[in-house]
This record gives sequence, structure tokens and C-alpha cells, in this order.
Amino acid sequence: MIVTNYLVIGSGIAGLTFAVKIAEHFPNKKVVIVTKASEEESNTKYAQGGVAVVLNKEEDSFKKHIKDTLIAGDGLCKEDVVKMVVKEGPKRLEELLLWGANFDTNPNGDFNLGKEGGHSEYRVVHHKDITGFEIERALLRRVHQLSNIEILPYHFAIDLITNHHVKDDNAAPETCYGAYVLNQKTGHIFTVKSDSTLLATGGIGCVYGHTTNPIIATGDGIAMAYRAKARIKDMEFVQFHPTALYDTQEGSSFLISEAVRGFGAYLRNKKGHRFMPDYDTRAELASRDIVSQSIDSELKKSGDAHVYLDCTHLDADAFIKHFPNIYNECLKRHIDIKTDWIPVVPASHYLCGGIKVNKKGKTTINNLFACGECSRTGLHGANRLASNSLLEALVYAHNIYKYHTKQNTTPVDFEIPSWNDEGTIIPEEHVLIQHNLKELQALMRDYVGIVRNNTRLKRAIKRLDVIYNEVEDLYRESKLTTSLCELRNMVNVAHLIIQQSLERKENRGGYFNSDII
Ligand code: FAD
Ligand code: SIN
Repeated sequence: MIVTNYLVIGSGIAGLTFAVKIAEHFPNKKVVIVTKASEEESNTKYAQGGVAVVLNKEEDSFKKHIKDTLIAGDGLCKEDVVKMVVKEGPKRLEELLLWGANFDTNPNGDFNLGKEGGHSEYRVVHHKDITGFEIERALLRRVHQLSNIEILPYHFAIDLITNHHVKDDNAAPETCYGAYVLNQKTGHIFTVKSDSTLLATGGIGCVYGHTTNPIIATGDGIAMAYRAKARIKDMEFVQFHPTALYDTQEGSSFLISEAVRGFGAYLRNKKGHRFMPDYDTRAELASRDIVSQSIDSELKKSGDAHVYLDCTHLDADAFIKHFPNIYNECLKRHIDIKTDWIPVVPASHYLCGGIKVNKKGKTTINNLFACGECSRTGLHGANRLASNSLLEALVYAHNIYKYHTKQNTTPVDFEIPSWNDEGTIIPEEHVLIQHNLKELQALMRDYVGIVRNNTRLKRAIKRLDVIYNEVEDLYRESKLTTSLCELRNMVNVAHLIIQQSLERKENRGGYFNSDII
């Protein structure tokens, strides 16, 4: 068993930022970070475009960023949250710089600001096209400098420990006491008892077979919080990124950043027609929901598998300087952006909803906080504005840290039962997990995609029920493995997406049901 003051689950921008801040402030308190893959593996690592922050006050303003965020969110953003996050942006960026993150600058020393869909101004701070990699590098470097942080890679959080597990009549209602954690290398499951727990487990992209997310994005934190009976909200708003590199294989797909469209690239159908001006006056720089739905409509009309992103008219040297990673990844696939159009297709990218939190990052369970992509703050409403996710994680990690500096946490001073896996056996039939995963991803792709309808959603929930029962049986009978726990979590997340889609009676932002007029 590990006993700690702060348990952080996840080592992306949200978890690491909170860990650094709280460890710096309380050098005598202990912070434990558990993370299920290598310490840097996360959605954060792959972020390309950058962080949206208002820095150039001559042309840009908080007012404009707030307005762009509200327009993208299609009437469902919480306005007070939008104002708070946008206004805090510059201060939080300043801290990243202090921790050693580097962002591109112009010859005059000002930040080189990019533009992406839905932004009315150039305001995206970036490190070439590998911004997330740079942020993750700087944060991990700082984490390793702080002796009161212990980071445990290849450790998988299985479930939160709540009143349900604690046989103590004095236990406060709806409280989190830590988590059960699987050491993925030894198979041992142990208790982490903590005064305060932060879920920073990231996104859900893998629930759909075709995604821009890496394989860690299986919605674990949301599923754990749901099973612990925390409130989960806005799960129907799955954001599909318009331009993932077309790949016939299921799985992670390389992203062609929206910043490439901000740089002037055109979307064309197979006939060569530049179609976005037919759908929106902002053309390729309309918000993501509109561009993805327009591509979906083009593909349905033509029966084609993808559209193209045309960069051939752009200044090639400047392109390569700004997007070296994209340029090289395309070349590896024999696509030379100077002469070839890039085949692209929408792919699941981001979840606007998640674990409901207030402005301090508090969930509806005591001593349980959520930050980053697994949380639902109200910033994104029905559709996230590009590059607002890294910003949100920085601002909320700070708010959660601030809350902890003002509020005393009560140590957990009672017994927590150890994990009990008596009677379980090592599953021999891995095929059961693989098959159910493929079935789950196929049903989400075919029935719960960019355009939904009631028949498909109802069919999806029926099929999901079958998978759910099989997976729960397997879970009860088996010695736990990461893949089984992830599958169980993805089934929970899929259920929430479908159920909350069925409850939505109005099309907004990234949610489009063709039966709703
Ligand atoms: P993550 O960075 O995903 O970190 C989650 C962590 O939790 C990981 O370390 C994971 O291993 C760990 N974890 C998960 N489950 C468990 C478990 N059960 N037990 C233990 N550990 C667990 N946003 C922007 O604002 N700007 C961009 O330019 C941008 N570009 C993007 C490009 C790509 C390709 C992708 C995929 C996303 C992009 N996004 C961008 C979105 C943004 O990167 C993410 O929303 C953000 O990084 C999420 O940060 P996070 O800390 O919440 O989660
Ligand atoms: C991108 O670079 O297109 C991704 C930006 C984001 O998801 O915010």
C-alpha cells in the first residue's frame, strides 16, 4: 500500500501541471503520479497546433477570444467559465515558460502566433508542429527536479476507492480515498490511499476505431468516476477532427494540424473542387464541427473514402519550417506536399464533455478532482475551439492547486480493504477481449459517428448491452489485465455517449442527429 497526500492519475499536461504546482507549494507533502504507459505517453505529447492565448493586444483581445469560443460552442458554453479561462491564459503560459517550455518566436522576439479554425485572430502559441511534445518535455523535467513527487509509470488505476469499499460508519458520504492500482509489469494490485485524488486521464478517442489519439485514450478516468457515481455530462459532444491523414488501417491516425489550414491550405474533393466555401463563408477556417460535417456530406454524396488537403500553392520553405513533422510524416508515406494533395478524412479527436467539475475542478464526489480532457468544465459547450484544450488544462490545474492551498485536506485514517481477486483466473482467451473491442469500435464508428439518427443510436445501445454483459462476466472471473480493464472502461464510455445522445433533443455544435429538425 502507498499512502500519500495527493494522488494524480495521468501524466499529461493536466496531471503534471497540478503535480508541479502542489509539490512546489508544499515541499513536505507527498505527491504520487500513477500513469499507465511510459511517463510521457499522453494525448498531450501529440498536440500539434498549440495553445490559444491572447498576447498581441494590438490586434487581439480577450473579448475576441471569448466571442470565438462562445460561437464555436454553439450556445452551450458556460460564459463565466469562458471568461475566466481566456483571461487566465497569459499568466498560465508565463509559468510554462518559467518551467522551460520553448515556443516559436519571430526575428523581433515576439511569439510567432498561428491561426486555426474558428479563431478570428492569430493567437496560437506553438513549438513548430510538436507543441505538446515540448510542453510534456518541460513539465517532466520539472517533475524530476522535485523530490516530493514520485512518478510510477506502467501503473494502471483500476477503480477509485469510495465509501462503497470502506466499511466505516463514520466515513463521510460520497468521498474518494484513493485508488486501486495495477502494477502492469508484475500484475500486483495495490491500494493507494490518498487525502485528495486528481483524475487527469485524458480522452476517449480509442472508443472509435479511427482516431487521432494514441492507444492510451480509453476514457478510464471517466469510466472510473461514472462507476463511483460522479456526475458525467455532455458526452454526446465528441469532436471529430476534419483532417486526419487517410489510412485504411483502424487505429491511431496521424493528424494534419488545423494550423495547416490556418496557413492557407484548401480542402478539395476528388474532382478538385474546393468545397468549403459552399458550406460556410469562413471556408476552411470554419469551426471544426462545420468542416467535419461538410466533409462527411461530400463523402456521402461522392461515395469516396477521403477528400484532399491541397498545400501545393503555399510557400514550401515556410511550410517546412513551420510544420517539419507533418512534412516528414507525409514524405514517409510518399506524399510530397509541394506537389501532392494530402488524403484526409475526419477522425474522432476530442471529447467536449466528461466528469462534471466546478470552477475549482471539484467533481460531485468529495476529495475527487478532475482536470484536462477527462473533465467537463463548461468551456467547450457543444464544440471546442481549436487549441483551447491545453489552455483549459493549464488554467484548471492552477485552480485545483489554489483550492488545495486554501483548504485543509483530512488524512484518511481508517482501514481500506485490499483488492480481493480470490477465485479469479488468468484469462486464456485473449481473443474475447480483441473481438469485443473490434465490435465496440465498429458500432461506434457506424452508428454513433459524425451524423447520427435515432434508429442507429437505439441499435447501438442494444448491441452494446450484449458486449457489456460479456465483458462484465470476464471482468468478474479474470485476473485483471490492462486490456480487459480498458475494454470495460470503453464500454462504459460508449454507453454514456449513446445514452446522452439519445437524451439530446436539439442539434448543436458537434452533435448532429438527422432525425432532429
Ligand atoms: P493526456 O495528455 O491524454 O494525459 C492522460 C494521461 O493519463 C496519460 O499519461 C495516460 O497514460 C494516463 N492514464 C489514462 N488512464 C489511466 C489509468 N487508468 N491509469 C493510469 N494512468 C492513466 N489541444 C490543444 O489545445 N492544442 C493542440 O494543438 C492540440 N493538438 C492535438 C493533436 C492531437 C494529435 C491530439 C490527439 C490532441 C490534440 N489536442 C490539442 C488535444 C489535447 O492534446 C488534449 O486534450 C490534452 O493534451 C489532454 O491533456 P490531459 O492531460 O487531460 O490528458
Ligand atoms: C490541431 O493542431 O489541429 C489540433 C488542435 C486542437 O485539437 O486543438
